Amino acid sequence: MNDFTILENPNDLDEESRWLMEKAKESLPSAYAPYSNFRVATAVLLEDGSIITGTNQENAAYPSGMCAERVALFTVASQHPGKKIKKLLVLARLGDQLELSPATSCGPCRQVMLEFEQRQRQPFQVVMQNQQHRWVKAPSAESLLPFCFSNESLQVRK
Ligand code: THU
Repeated sequence: MNDFTILENPNDLDEESRWLMEKAKESLPSAYAPYSNFRVATAVLLEDGSIITGTNQENAAYPSGMCAERVALFTVASQHPGKKIKKLLVLARLGDQLELSPATSCGPCRQVMLEFEQRQRQPFQVVMQNQQHRWVKAPSAESLLPFCFSNESLQVRK
C-alpha cells in the first residue's frame, strides 16, 4: 500500500512525530559532516516509547561515512535487540540555515529500513520532508521501495 500522507502544515503532524522531530533536532549537533555540511538526524520510536537517535558520520574517505538513518537503526539493533520500531523520522539542516532542508532517505537506507521491517514482521511509519518542504508520512519502508529485493527473493521455492 502506497498511501503517503503529505502535510501542508507541520503543525498537522501527529504528537509522536512532533516529539521525534524535537529529539532529532536536539541530536543534530552530534552529526559529523565537515565535507558536505549537510547534517542529518534520525529519531526512531520503539514500541516501549523510547526514542533512539542517530546522526550522519562522514569520513575523509567519503564512502566510509554513514547516513543518520543507518546509524540510528544499527544502534537500535545492537542496543535494543528485539524491540519493535513504530516510527522513524529523518530531518536535515544544510550549514547554519535556520530552516530544515529536505531529506528523503537514500536508497541504501530504505533497503536497511526494509530489512528491519521484515525482521520485526511489522511495518513502521517513515516520516521525512520532501523537496517542497512538506512532511511526508509513508506507511512503511516497503512502500518506499517498489519492486524491492528482500529476504523473500533468497528463499527457495518448493
Ligand atoms: N545522508 C544521510 O545521513 N541520510 C540520507 O538519507 C541521505 C544523505 C548524509 C550522508 C552524507 O553525510 C550527507 O548526508 C550528504 O550526502
